[in-house]
Amino acid sequence: MISLTVNGKPVEVDADPAMPILWVLREKLALNGTKFGCGIAQCGACTVHLDGAPIRSCSVPISEAGGKSITTIEGLADAEGTPGNLQRAWISEQVPQCGYCQSGQIMSAAALLRDTPRPTDDQITTAMRGNVCRCGMYGRIRKAIKIAAGIGTSAGGDSA
Ligand code: FES
Ligand code: FES
Repeated sequence: MISLTVNGKPVEVDADPAMPILWVLREKLALNGTKFGCGIAQCGACTVHLDGAPIRSCSVPISEAGGKSITTIEGLADAEGTPGNLQRAWISEQVPQCGYCQSGQIMSAAALLRDTPRPTDDQITTAMRGNVCRCGMYGRIRKAIKIAAGIGTSAGGDSA
């Protein structure tokens, strides 16, 4: 058994210590918001926070999460299920196309805004460069981050 905290709740998981965190979240804890993309730490679709830091959960074994805290996309909503600030910005800007990459995008953006509440364009670029969007929604992602940070305005209908 491996003990850890997931989205603020203590959990114990019976898993091979080498099992990637991604599969523990999806297969053992039914937290399916975190996606499998490449499986080799290259796309960012599987991004979650481990003790507050964004990680590629496809490539980190659950043994490394013992005694630590994981936050997933499901953990960004409040106790009543109300979407967080970033999620509301994502909705207002209609960021996703297929949506597959988006929970990973939001988790990377959440880590950025926690550490840098009013990021510059360069800081956004640096923080988000490991998250691939095959639909090319990078412009909308950037705009939503700025709106969530209170440094952007919604013009509506912007293209990617
Ligand atoms: S699925 Fe983990 S980085 Fe692509
Ligand atoms: S919205 Fe389709 S991959 Fe990003």
